[in-house]
Amino acid sequence: MWPDITRCYCIDDLRITAKRSLPKPIFDYLDGGAEDEITMRRNREVFRDYEFSPRVLRNVAQIDLSTQALGVASSMPLICAPTGMSRMFHYLGEVAVARAAHAAGIPYSLSTVSSTALEDIAQLTPGPKFFQLYVMKDRSIAHDLIERCKSAGYQGLYLTADLASLGNRERDLRNGFGRPLEIKIKTGLGALLAPLWLYRLATQPAMRLATLARYLPHDGDAVKNSEFVNEQLDPSLDWDDAIAFREQWGGPFIIKGIQCVEDARKAVEIGASAIVISNHGGRQLDMAPTALSLLPQVVDAVGDQVDVLIDGGIRRGSDVIKAVALGAKACLIGRPYLFGLAAGGEAGVSRALGLLRTEMERVMQLIGCESISALDARYIQRIERVANG
Ligand code: FNR
Ligand code: LAC
Repeated sequence: MWPDITRCYCIDDLRITAKRSLPKPIFDYLDGGAEDEITMRRNREVFRDYEFSPRVLRNVAQIDLSTQALGVASSMPLICAPTGMSRMFHYLGEVAVARAAHAAGIPYSLSTVSSTALEDIAQLTPGPKFFQLYVMKDRSIAHDLIERCKSAGYQGLYLTADLASLGNRERDLRNGFGRPLEIKIKTGLGALLAPLWLYRLATQPAMRLATLARYLPHDGDAVKNSEFVNEQLDPSLDWDDAIAFREQWGGPFIIKGIQCVEDARKAVEIGASAIVISNHGGRQLDMAPTALSLLPQVVDAVGDQVDVLIDGGIRRGSDVIKAVALGAKACLIGRPYLFGLAAGGEAGVSRALGLLRTEMERVMQLIGCESISALDARYIQRIERVANG
């Protein structure tokens, strides 16, 4: 009944354990993407378009993965991305992730649609934290959230810009995920195969959109509010709004979901301190470009003015090393730590972060590069594929 995470040797092992630990609709929400999931798959495949160009006989006895990203020190070029409703995957949810991130020496990002309130995360967990903003039609909510983040001491604010409407996630539609009655029935049945998850669901406080609760009916009850929140997402959000939020916030301001060079330039123009090239893990627009394929052009255009980060499809330490070699300051991961969370709570997240760290260190030794600051494009090369070859 208790998964043995010490026998998970890579993120994919944690994924399999997560799959066994969760009811199918919950796992599919975590694991799935939009429509044909082509972008989601490409997010993985694009890393295979690069191989390393190793140097040998260098002293690599000490590897230094530490770096500075988004204005804070990090023990490795990795950040836990904002993801909604983490308590759905493990009853300790965001608290477990933020604690594991701190223990690993990396920053944590909390989502607007979190199942732990932003103030509780600030109080219960040490370490640098960023808050991710989704903007509702009632703009007073965003303004209030920003004030709450200031009081709670968050170090940076992401504006997620790739959610003008929710992506078309057909696994969720088929599973009835997001439709209140069906959630109860289907997760109830599916949960028979995930007894530990079901036990905790029954014995823990109800799932709430805890950060948003004060603006919602039913004390933020997640099931009762899921449609309401989707309808509340504001598709009229534009660059002028981004400027207003940046001004109100006054601290490090990160635009997440940049998907072309022009928008990267625009983000710099409006005073963003960093950007995340992201297609939201392939969960929004299917056929959106992959972050890694855009990275060199974006770094070329704005890399000397802002931190450029990427996310999507990172499952190996080698993926992070490739991204940094191409100019990324750091990478965000979503599913990898959530698989860990579902597989084993805080220890599972620590396992995920530890595996990625060990993989990064090993790759750095094998390519003959001793520190993140010395890592550059000379260490990798793009594989030229011959058509039909
Ligand atoms: C997300 N992501 C996300 N992004 C965001 O800005 N706010 C959010 O609330 C969420 N919620 C969310 C839930 C789940 C279950 C997943 C998997 C993802 C996107 C996330 O921040 C990140 O961009 C992707 O997860 C990166 O891709 P990988 O690492 O999951 O492949
Ligand atoms: C998601 C939303 C919550 O990707 O951002 O599921």
